[in-house]
Amino acid sequence: MTGQSLTMQILHREGLARIGRFKTDHGYVDTPNIMPVINPNLRTIPIDTMKKFGTQAIITNSYIIRRNQDLKDEALKNGLHSLIGFDGTIMTDSGTFQSYVYGGVEYENRDTVEFQIDIKSDISTILDIFSTPSDSHEKARLAVDETHKRFEEIKDIAKSHNISGPIQGSIYRDLRRRSAKLMSDTDASYLPIGGVVPLLEQYKYSNLVDIILESKLASDFSKPVHLFGGGHPMFMGMAVLLGVDMFDSASYVKYARDDRLLYTEGTRYLADVTELPYWSPLNERFTIKEIKSLEEKERYSILAEHNLFAIFQELSEIRERIRENTLWQYIESKSRSHPSLYSAFKRILTHSKRIEPYFELYRKSPLFHFGTETNRSPYGIRLKKLEPEKGTYSTLSSREWKPARLSQDFVRNVYEKSEENFCINWYGLKIPVEMEEIYPVEQVISGYEKETKGTLFRRDNGYEKVRNFNLEKLRRVADFQFGKGNGKSIFPDDCKITVSKATGRIRTISRNDSILATMRAHDGFIGLTFEGGLKLHEVSKGMNNRVMVTRESATYNSQGKSVFFKFVEQNDMGIIPLNDVLVVDPDDSLIAVGRAMVSGREMRMYKDGVAVTINHHIQ
Ligand code: GUN
Repeated sequence: MTGQSLTMQILHREGLARIGRFKTDHGYVDTPNIMPVINPNLRTIPIDTMKKFGTQAIITNSYIIRRNQDLKDEALKNGLHSLIGFDGTIMTDSGTFQSYVYGGVEYENRDTVEFQIDIKSDISTILDIFSTPSDSHEKARLAVDETHKRFEEIKDIAKSHNISGPIQGSIYRDLRRRSAKLMSDTDASYLPIGGVVPLLEQYKYSNLVDIILESKLASDFSKPVHLFGGGHPMFMGMAVLLGVDMFDSASYVKYARDDRLLYTEGTRYLADVTELPYWSPLNERFTIKEIKSLEEKERYSILAEHNLFAIFQELSEIRERIRENTLWQYIESKSRSHPSLYSAFKRILTHSKRIEPYFELYRKSPLFHFGTETNRSPYGIRLKKLEPEKGTYSTLSSREWKPARLSQDFVRNVYEKSEENFCINWYGLKIPVEMEEIYPVEQVISGYEKETKGTLFRRDNGYEKVRNFNLEKLRRVADFQFGKGNGKSIFPDDCKITVSKATGRIRTISRNDSILATMRAHDGFIGLTFEGGLKLHEVSKGMNNRVMVTRESATYNSQGKSVFFKFVEQNDMGIIPLNDVLVVDPDDSLIAVGRAMVSGREMRMYKDGVAVTINHHIQ
């Protein structure tokens, strides 16, 4: 056995959602992904078909195997992989769910885990205590603590094997946080969120939003997070948006046995279906009429195939959405497909302030503005911070404002001659005109033309004015990226601003013949050079804007090589993913300026991968 860590390696991200991978003794698992549930007594779909759809990992139940003499003997003799006939990753569950359904199981925690190790499970699960949503706070708290105690009972085993430590806590947010923290601090290498099946079955997605979010935010981000039983394609995207990496599900079989077909947005009874969807793998072999006339056993198997494919289809869409940074808008539009999803989406909006720090400075894709809800999304909340205080501005005039094309006439004739500051009306938010180019002020798509025509506001107090539009723009954007007040220090009055001849936009900023920064065309943000980094370093105190690396790492980073997570000693907790940061050595000497790949909160949790890519380094 070589297991004991399933460290997540992150490849793409959008807020809390991530595409990553982890490795077991039986290969890589690319996330987000699903482990189809295999009941060793009831094989519904051939393993080869599962693999063809993209199955890299499955989950089975060690309790069922142990109770059946033949299965047990074979598993002990030849191992689980031979028993199941699958050479990928196999996770085993412990019998907790059976204990919840039947009111108890005959095995103890430790021997349950030992049995899973003996049959060579890749990820074994303790006999955790399943809390139901109707449990009292007291009962749920006892379950959380007993589950933690049970992990402690086998902590010696967890030193050399991958053990999953379920997060319990019923619907209580404080208990979910407590459980996630307790489990993250153990040697558990995998963190499933448990006790949620009744909520999933009842479409109580709003409760699930709270549970997943509390669990995730209190958990160690380097460990995969799994949602036990959460394999319905309707809800998977939302769960991924909240940070879930893995699912398991028997739903593909359960729905098939109920003569139901899964779709990415719901289910339909076979009897009500007239056409198979084009994407269904069954199309090649059957007409819907033929499926309806199959005898039961074969029909179930065929429908299970369709259902599992629907799950993988949705996962592929979710991954693609993360890659193109459009998962949020996918979930926003998908939430209209069911009232429970819609109320869950609105519940997510109530958490926007807490999840905003995990969202990237900019995204590849423009922000789709659907309405007032978009203003309550993490990016809306971020922009709202820019609004002037109430009452400090008034309407100046109504004139055309098109994103990032603030008319040069306005700049010359109104702005630069005036003593006042101005805001544009961005779908109801008052954004200082100097922020016109930053993501997503400019990079927005909406269906309502009327509102992109802005109203200009003025206010009589506030920012010190030099009445140089470009300089004020630079300083405002720098304040946004690097902390209030720092813009002025990085870009003093005598800095030289070069603008593009074609667009009139700022391109580079220099001083005494050295370039301090550039302003990026695609997101309107500032990229610092090493010189610019030195200026920021001079004025920002403590750990602000910094990632401090070990001395050993500093020698590599000073040559332009990326900073790896394991060499980060300290960092600013407020770092926004994809923002520029200062890379410093343990004496706080500036080594390099680079781009943070994750938020400050995540920086020291990950163990595998790149924390900062270097853009400029000490010469
Ligand atoms: N399967 C579904 N829910 C749970 C849970 O809470 N714990 C375990 N071990 N398995 C589950």
